[in-house]
Amino acid sequence: MRFSKNIASLVPSATLAISARAKKMRAAGESVVNLSAGEPSFPTPDVAIQAGLEYVRSGKAGYPPTPGTPGLRNAVASYVNQTTAHDRVAPANVLISAGVKQALFNACFCLFESGDEVLVPVPYWPTYLATLELAGATPVVVPTRWEEGFRLDVATLDRLRTPATRGLFLNSPSNPSGDVYDRDLMAEIADWARANDVWILSDEIYRRLYYEGESAPSIYDVPHADGRVLHLDGISKAFSMPGWRIGYAVGPEEVIQKMSALQSQTTSGAAGPSQDAAAAILSSPLRDDIVKDFRDILRRRRDTAVDALSGLPGLELRAPAGAIYLYVRLTETSDSMNVAERLLVQEGVATIPGEPFGTPGFLRLNYSVSDEELAEGLSRIRTFFS
Ligand SMILES: Cc1ncc(COP(=O)(O)O)c(C=O)c1O
Repeated sequence: MRFSKNIASLVPSATLAISARAKKMRAAGESVVNLSAGEPSFPTPDVAIQAGLEYVRSGKAGYPPTPGTPGLRNAVASYVNQTTAHDRVAPANVLISAGVKQALFNACFCLFESGDEVLVPVPYWPTYLATLELAGATPVVVPTRWEEGFRLDVATLDRLRTPATRGLFLNSPSNPSGDVYDRDLMAEIADWARANDVWILSDEIYRRLYYEGESAPSIYDVPHADGRVLHLDGISKAFSMPGWRIGYAVGPEEVIQKMSALQSQTTSGAAGPSQDAAAAILSSPLRDDIVKDFRDILRRRRDTAVDALSGLPGLELRAPAGAIYLYVRLTETSDSMNVAERLLVQEGVATIPGEPFGTPGFLRLNYSVSDEELAEGLSRIRTFFS
């Protein structure tokens, strides 16, 4: 079959593929603990369910507005103003999409093109590379070190910068490592990007799943960071609603309008019931309590996982400050593909190897599964490494 050049280097999402394989093995009767997926395990909060149901029962059937319903754009603007140091976000600065994934796609297509270089720190969420390549831009991988908490170093950004550098991806808390940039580093990066006319695409989808406070530092906690900055977030992780497919981009109105134009020619507005459900949860007085309840359970699961795996031969780990993953370092091999495969086949535990994140020699484990599943998975991993 001949396919277009547009997708010459496209590969399916490794994380979704492994998770699908684990589900298939389970459906075939095998005992598999799935720690590979990137989704929290909680049910949809009731306030969102009620709003979604109301929309469905109302009989509304029209296309929702392309950039998002006024109710949801307004709710996102207020949410960002309330939970970051920023206080000037208006509904016109917000584009609602079918998940952060679509918002990222819109952003990359509107801002970058062939010949543009975009800096992507390791370890990275693989979709950044795939999306940039689809847009024809060149991802430039920025090295970081596990020993330094994969901390981004502005001197390295400077070294990699060329006249073609147009953008920089940030993802704090990180998928896969759970590491978090502090406010000072965010400010340093924002200053560097401003001085060099580089767009920052800050994917903050795990911002509220932060174990050292209410919210991990945001690019919008840097007071002057509202020029060439897109802040990306959604309801998939903090509110455990990935299947509802609502994400958003916040940024300068001119860019939001272009991204909306692109969306109008591709998918139109995000699904109506999902938009109402998202607006309800973001403006609910219960919002922060719901996140806190999730966070408390996740912190306990994280600590359980760290305790169970610490000191085993062949691996090293630390308790990450955010997100829902442990990123375990293999000390005796860099072939994590092979280790993940053996772990799945021998012990029936699905994890994601470090290769797709640009850091071979690691395993990513999602600890946001039920307590029973987590206990079983950890026990099997202990058997494997012992
Ligand atoms: C870093 C990161 N960004 C974005 C997403 C996707 O978010 P959404 O479900 O809103 O498309 C994920 C999902 O795993 C993620 O890990």
